[in-house]
Amino acid sequence: MFPVRSVLLAGLVSLCICQYYDYDYEPAAQSMPSAPNCAQECNCPINFPTAMYCDGINLKYIPIVPTGIKYLYLQNNLIEEIKAGVFDNVTDLRWLVLDNNNITSDKIQSGTIDKLGKLEKLLFSYNKLNKPPVLKSKSLDEVKFIGNRLTTLPSGLLSGMENLTTIHLAKNKLTSEGLVGAFKGLKSLMLLDLSENKLKKLPAGIPASLLMLYADNNDIESIPSGYLAKLPELQYLRLSHNKLVDSGIPAGVFNVTSLLELDLSFNKLQTIPEINEALEHLYLQVNEISKFDLNNICKVISPVNYSRLKSLRLDGNELTHSNLPDDASTCLRQASEIVFD
Ligand SMILES: *[C@@H]1O[C@H](CO)[C@@H](O)[C@H](O)[C@H]1NC(C)=O
Ligand SMILES: *[C@@H]1O[C@H](CO)[C@@H](O)[C@H](O)[C@H]1NC(C)=O
Ligand SMILES: *[C@@H]1O[C@H](CO)[C@@H](O)[C@H](O)[C@H]1NC(C)=O
Ligand SMILES: *[C@@H]1O[C@H](CO)[C@@H](O)[C@H](O)[C@H]1NC(C)=O
Ligand SMILES: *[C@@H]1O[C@H](CO)[C@@H](O)[C@H](O)[C@H]1NC(C)=O
Repeated sequence: MFPVRSVLLAGLVSLCICQYYDYDYEPAAQSMPSAPNCAQECNCPINFPTAMYCDGINLKYIPIVPTGIKYLYLQNNLIEEIKAGVFDNVTDLRWLVLDNNNITSDKIQSGTIDKLGKLEKLLFSYNKLNKPPVLKSKSLDEVKFIGNRLTTLPSGLLSGMENLTTIHLAKNKLTSEGLVGAFKGLKSLMLLDLSENKLKKLPAGIPASLLMLYADNNDIESIPSGYLAKLPELQYLRLSHNKLVDSGIPAGVFNVTSLLELDLSFNKLQTIPEINEALEHLYLQVNEISKFDLNNICKVISPVNYSRLKSLRLDGNELTHSNLPDDASTCLRQASEIVFD
């Protein structure tokens, strides 16, 4: 209910697989007494006086935000505009939640979000932004712009944000050209979600700190040679629902020891790509694979050389159990799940 708990929750979740999570945006119960300066439309819990909850009340405007508020919840309203001056009393705002409104980029006036020098979270999903707002806070740790109409993220927009760990950009119209230089120098970045966009290739210049890269549901045909070698921490790579073909997968591109999960499902691969023995989950369902190349999973099979794969999905290909080579069980000795159909 309160930001403190959500911070803890977010921290815990981001340590785990982190697939589909959301913050706990529950507003305080209506019966709870409100702090005296609270905007009358909203709710400021007396035992958490720095939070103001104004979510889900059909607001068309941003209400007066009293001095002292640090966590502002405005999601699920009908707000179309961020007028000059609305945050003048709260330039040290930490969290600004604007998800599910109707805000367009041309209605964000200057002297609003760009004045919030201490902002840590900007949650702006499901609005109508066609370009990101100007961000001046070097303290940002999370930005979320899912479900807008962004085509580019200008290089320099995020520069110097040393604590930025999470960037959600799914369901926009981002192109590969539109992301040139966008993520440069973000030393703490751990999660970058670019799924459901218009990328033709994976972005270059991704920080080496990245743990999770999601680029499923794009138009990616190939992966640059050595791409993963530049991401030594990467554990989760999602590339399902793209246009990957064998010729777009350079030899050894996935042979890196950090990777735990690789999702290549719903592409046009004809062979099982070469992977590292450290990989634990490999998703290849709905491709065009017709032979089982055990050699790409285990180069060497011995008491000490075997694949760490726990799950392998091959359903929706041209393979059955009968394609599994005899020595597969030695190589795949840890696989508890091998799915053919
Ligand atoms: C700022 O605070 C003052 C005093 O509480 C209030 O009168 C004014 O309307 C506030 N301004 C905004 C933009 O919220
Ligand atoms: C959102 O804004 C547009 C104009 O920009 C308006 O036509 C539309 O009705 C608004 N939608 C809602 C749900 O308020
Ligand atoms: C980044 O986080 C660290 C540790 O919490 C903090 O000391 C530092 O001031 C932050 N940097 C910025 C620019 O906010
Ligand atoms: C992966 O790379 C290592 C060297 O880093 C090499 O010994 C190994 O044979 C490669 N694995 C595959 C499956 O090609
Ligand atoms: C076989 O396992 C040994 C010991 O774990 C390791 O040093 C070596 O690189 C492995 N060889 C291959 C080809 O993976």
